Amino acid sequence: MKVGIIGGTGGIGKGMALRLSQNHEVIIGSRKEEKASSSCDDCCDFLKELGLPFNLMPSTNQGVVDNADIVVFAIPPETLQVTIDSLTGLEGKIVVSLMNPMEKGDYFKYVPPEEGSAALELQRMLPQSKVIAAFNNIPAKKWNQISEVLDYSVCVCGDHDEEKQIIMELVNSISELEALNAGPLAVSATVEAITPLVINIAKFNKMRDVGVYFR
Ligand SMILES: NC(=O)c1ccc[n+]([C@@H]2O[C@H](COP(=O)([O-])OP(=O)(O)OC[C@H]3O[C@@H](n4cnc5c(N)ncnc54)[C@H](OP(=O)(O)O)[C@@H]3O)[C@@H](O)[C@H]2O)c1
Repeated sequence: MKVGIIGGTGGIGKGMALRLSQNHEVIIGSRKEEKASSSCDDCCDFLKELGLPFNLMPSTNQGVVDNADIVVFAIPPETLQVTIDSLTGLEGKIVVSLMNPMEKGDYFKYVPPEEGSAALELQRMLPQSKVIAAFNNIPAKKWNQISEVLDYSVCVCGDHDEEKQIIMELVNSISELEALNAGPLAVSATVEAITPLVINIAKFNKMRDVGVYFR
């Protein structure tokens, strides 16, 4: 399956592209094609240097929607509406949300939209798409450290069983990530809220690479 990343030039999008392109066809999306091309060139050079295989191409965000089977939204949550308004053809697609709406003050705080979570907001905006929440709690830095094992647990939530299974298989195809079925999309609020918790724990305990492992 082709995986396309909306906002594939960002911290998380680029890291996901590096990892996913090892064994999937990946499209790096951007609002600007030149930015996607430059980001894609960087990823290809990096992977070539490491002698790793890859299948990676650049496009606009609309190109991602037109050509990918799985569309990952890797953009800041506050840019969701403007991004959705700029795209057509998401009906029937598997759409993955890894967005965690939060505010930074003395500590990081989860600030969900009125729907309850970013994933639920996305599903409301795209009633004919199959929204699955996944990858919420993995730091961008770890995605990008491609020579290192990625061995977190990944909570996967969604109301569409077949599509949830497809995303769980996608998760399990990456390094040593372990997909766990966390239930319906409504549970995404709990999963998104784990991210500010993890960042606060890292900050207040001077820890690095704090992750989520359910064992
Ligand atoms: N960073 C992490 O460690 C991490 C971990 C887990 C989940 N997440 C979630 O992943 C998402 C992306 O995080 P990130 O740190 O990668 O974000 P980011 O680097 O700030 O932004 C990602 C991409 O979003 C696009 N973008 C930025 N502003 C936009 C706007 N006004 N309208 C439309 N697109 C815009 C940009 O792509 P173009 O300019 O190329 O269009 C940008 O490269 C967030 O929802 C975050 O909660 C992040």
